[in-house]
Amino acid sequence: MRALSLAVALLAGDAAAQQATDAIAPEIGAFEAQAASAPVQADEWMVVAAHPLASRAGARVLREGGSAADAMVAVQLVLGLVEPQSSGLGGGAFLVWYDAASGDLTTLDGRETAPLHASPLLFQDAAGQPLAFMDAVVGGRSVGVPGTPMLLAEAHARWGRLNWADLFAEAHDHAAQGFEVSPRMAASIAANADTLDRFAATRDYFLPEGRMLKAGDMLKNPAYAKTLQTFAEEGPAPFYTGPIARQIIRAVQSAPETPGTLGALDLAIYEVRERAPVCAPYRGHEVCGMGPPSSGAIAVGQILGTLAGHDLAAMGPDSAEARRLIGDATRLAFADRGRFVADSDYVPVPVKGLLAPGYLQGRAALLEGPDALREVQPGRPEFDHAQLRGDDDALELPSTSHISIVDRYGNALSMTTTIENAFGSRLMAGGFMLNNELTDFSFSSHEDGRPIANRVEPGKRPRSSMAPTIVLRDGAPVLVLGSPGGSQIIPYVANAIIGHLDWGMDVQAMTDAPHATNRFGTYALEEGTGAAALAGPLRAMGYEVQLQGLNSGLHAISLGEGLQGGADPRREGLAIGE
Ligand code: DON
Repeated sequence: MRALSLAVALLAGDAAAQQATDAIAPEIGAFEAQAASAPVQADEWMVVAAHPLASRAGARVLREGGSAADAMVAVQLVLGLVEPQSSGLGGGAFLVWYDAASGDLTTLDGRETAPLHASPLLFQDAAGQPLAFMDAVVGGRSVGVPGTPMLLAEAHARWGRLNWADLFAEAHDHAAQGFEVSPRMAASIAANADTLDRFAATRDYFLPEGRMLKAGDMLKNPAYAKTLQTFAEEGPAPFYTGPIARQIIRAVQSAPETPGTLGALDLAIYEVRERAPVCAPYRGHEVCGMGPPSSGAIAVGQILGTLAGHDLAAMGPDSAEARRLIGDATRLAFADRGRFVADSDYVPVPVKGLLAPGYLQGRAALLEGPDALREVQPGRPEFDHAQLRGDDDALELPSTSHISIVDRYGNALSMTTTIENAFGSRLMAGGFMLNNELTDFSFSSHEDGRPIANRVEPGKRPRSSMAPTIVLRDGAPVLVLGSPGGSQIIPYVANAIIGHLDWGMDVQAMTDAPHATNRFGTYALEEGTGAAALAGPLRAMGYEVQLQGLNSGLHAISLGEGLQGGADPRREGLAIGE
């Protein structure tokens, strides 16, 4: 308990806590010992989101008989205001929906698209070299067509029960009357003040009169209130063909130094796409989520499938051997992800081949022996129409938000939502931030003459790691979860599922558990937590080990005798249920 609250303070940048943590670190042992609190219990409905005001807006809707889709709209509208560093109407999202009446699972892709003028050279300099990441992020060039406004409307049209305009009350009130800047928002502003300062509208909002907003400041956003009014009255069309579209285009095309090409046609042709859910078996369950353009469900399914033959339950969470198996299974999945996964409307993605039991058995055979894998290569999954591909070099850094909801009708919703980097491109239009999602593409277009699957192409959706997940047993949901974290999302989600299904952790314990992740070879252990105890044994197995902050944002609900909700203590989220 003490270790975890110190870890949280440490993630919030508290130097005194850092010293205290250093002092007690050698005493910290078991992973299980670190659960901070019990999960929130409920009988009828539950919402878990990244900010108390957002969770409360969702709770009001659920209490009034709204569906999980209704509640999600209310939650997202508030998040875009109070957590502007993470998600909002200028971004994109993936949504997984379990429909209690039909038993069907639906996944919706509200991912941003590249403008029609974009080319594979978008993020390269004149010599064909990839740009430095932050040079690519800031400004108009990285902005893709926002998908979130249309996704909210689509979800409401399919599954909503309350009036559309009734879902806007809290967001509109907070925008018009003011809300309190949270510590996390203030810390994000401080960390990004130099880039927020580069664009007038952004500067005026976050750094008024040259002063950084602080935690506890009251902040109004009249431009966002106006956008919400329009959205409530007219639906999503104004974002794609109307006045809000014009504001977006102006912000992107007039961005100093790095204007983008995103224009009226790009917005007008945008579509939310329904995709086939991607499901993988694990311990008698079906782990289901978002297929391409996200790599989330494929990679999570591959990790779990590769581990299926190992008795992780007997090993327990403190076992270095369990961590070797999980870490190397994750590395194998990331090697395949880098080579094969991208927007399947543009490149054939061997989804079935990557998750085929025979293929994963072959990958699992690579884990035999006591030591870390020296080298990890993509495999050769069965492919309908094979193409030679290079490995990509996309980078993903912190922001993003996850929403988990179960309503009184038994529907379940899992949605991960993002503007990519903290404050996205730093450009603002209509009171909301515009994404930099295009930097999720590979900056390199070729490797040894082979095209990279996730290179930039006109109209394409950048590959994501977002893994909104619903775990089913006998066709009914038992766990709803997801996380922010860039490509760390994949191990956060896979490890949480292992924590719950193999190690018997409840949703709060699995969310609190210290992180240990390995994507590309280096084992990252969450500093200031019991995970540090693994450093020695993992080094002895041959891993390079790094102690670092691992800032997730897991939000989960389990369904069994009742509902249990867990919010990640590393962020400001809250579970509310009745
Ligand atoms: O779609 C993706 O995978 C990324 N744009 C998500 C970014 C993210 O999670 C940053 N996280 N903290």
